[in-house]
Amino acid sequence: MLVNVKFFFIILLYIKGTCTIYKRKNVLIIGSSGYLGSSVVMYLASHANVTVSHYTQAAFPNSVKFDFFSDHVENTFQKKFFDVVIIAAKIEFDIQQNSLTEAMKRFINFFQDAHMIYISSDGIFDGVRGMYTEMDVPEPITTYGENLAICEEIIKSRSSAWSIVRPSYIYGYSLGILDARLDRMQKKLMVGVENPFVDMFKSPVEVNYAARAIADSALREIEGIIHLAGCKMSVYEFYKRSMQVLGISVSNLLPGHMPAMQLREVDMLKDTSLDNTKMQDLFGPCPVIEEFLKEFY
Ligand SMILES: NC(=O)c1ccc[n+]([C@@H]2O[C@H](COP(=O)([O-])OP(=O)(O)OC[C@H]3O[C@@H](n4cnc5c(N)ncnc54)[C@H](OP(=O)(O)O)[C@@H]3O)[C@@H](O)[C@H]2O)c1
Repeated sequence: MLVNVKFFFIILLYIKGTCTIYKRKNVLIIGSSGYLGSSVVMYLASHANVTVSHYTQAAFPNSVKFDFFSDHVENTFQKKFFDVVIIAAKIEFDIQQNSLTEAMKRFINFFQDAHMIYISSDGIFDGVRGMYTEMDVPEPITTYGENLAICEEIIKSRSSAWSIVRPSYIYGYSLGILDARLDRMQKKLMVGVENPFVDMFKSPVEVNYAARAIADSALREIEGIIHLAGCKMSVYEFYKRSMQVLGISVSNLLPGHMPAMQLREVDMLKDTSLDNTKMQDLFGPCPVIEEFLKEFY
């Protein structure tokens, strides 16, 4: 009899485990109409039940209009419904810090039981030494960086489960549309000389790789901080290699230098390159610019 009861519980645990693995998750994406968010939706859609939200312009059918700052989260979404909530909306620019704090707290408190994924940025670091790891403590020096830090702290302290994803420059084709940075540069080079800095460093990451990694983090509910980054390179090298792959002449692309410290705008960070060891362990090697841009060009 005792053996039968034990056997029954083992079967029950097995079924529970199997259901956990195969249950389709309900995922909410705030910022689904954006450059990054729209690709995340595409990678998640075949594996999860995805609810999407936009602010000004819907990118998908049935998208819910939601302003992070003025709409009431409780009147827009169902609290218990979502297993994972992804914030891929641009909410850290041009906003008073108390409004951001209030809106973020309200949002996180409402979805307390969900696994929260927040898309932060390399801009949270001061840019003094570069190759920051997930263990490094950010010391933001720009308003944008301080706002990212506010959001990260609220998520860490109030969510039951969370991931914070910090991408460097994101580039490439998201649903066939080239990122605004490279698009701007190719247009500018057709009419004049441009001087991106050889002494400013980033770790650009391709948008489809980034979106796949975020979708994977949602499906596997990976916890903790993750840097999303390709190889470290100067901003000049980034533009030069990208333009060459896109078939744009680089004769108008000349190496520039960052202005002297006292003339520098406060948001010009010298080296916010990121260490990507953890990312590559989790999601596999990150291919180089030439492979990725060619694939989607
Ligand atoms: N792109 C990069 O190189 C990069 C690098 C590092 C980190 N990031 C971070 O990644 C996130 C997404 O960037 P992205 O390049 O995809 O930006 P994006 O293309 O400008 O998209 C921004 C998204 O945020 C939504 N949004 C804006 N204001 C909102 C509000 N008040 N309430 C709700 N939604 C709002 C927009 O909705 P509508 O389109 O409907 O107005 C859009 O879906 C940002 O947080 C950014 O800081 C980006």
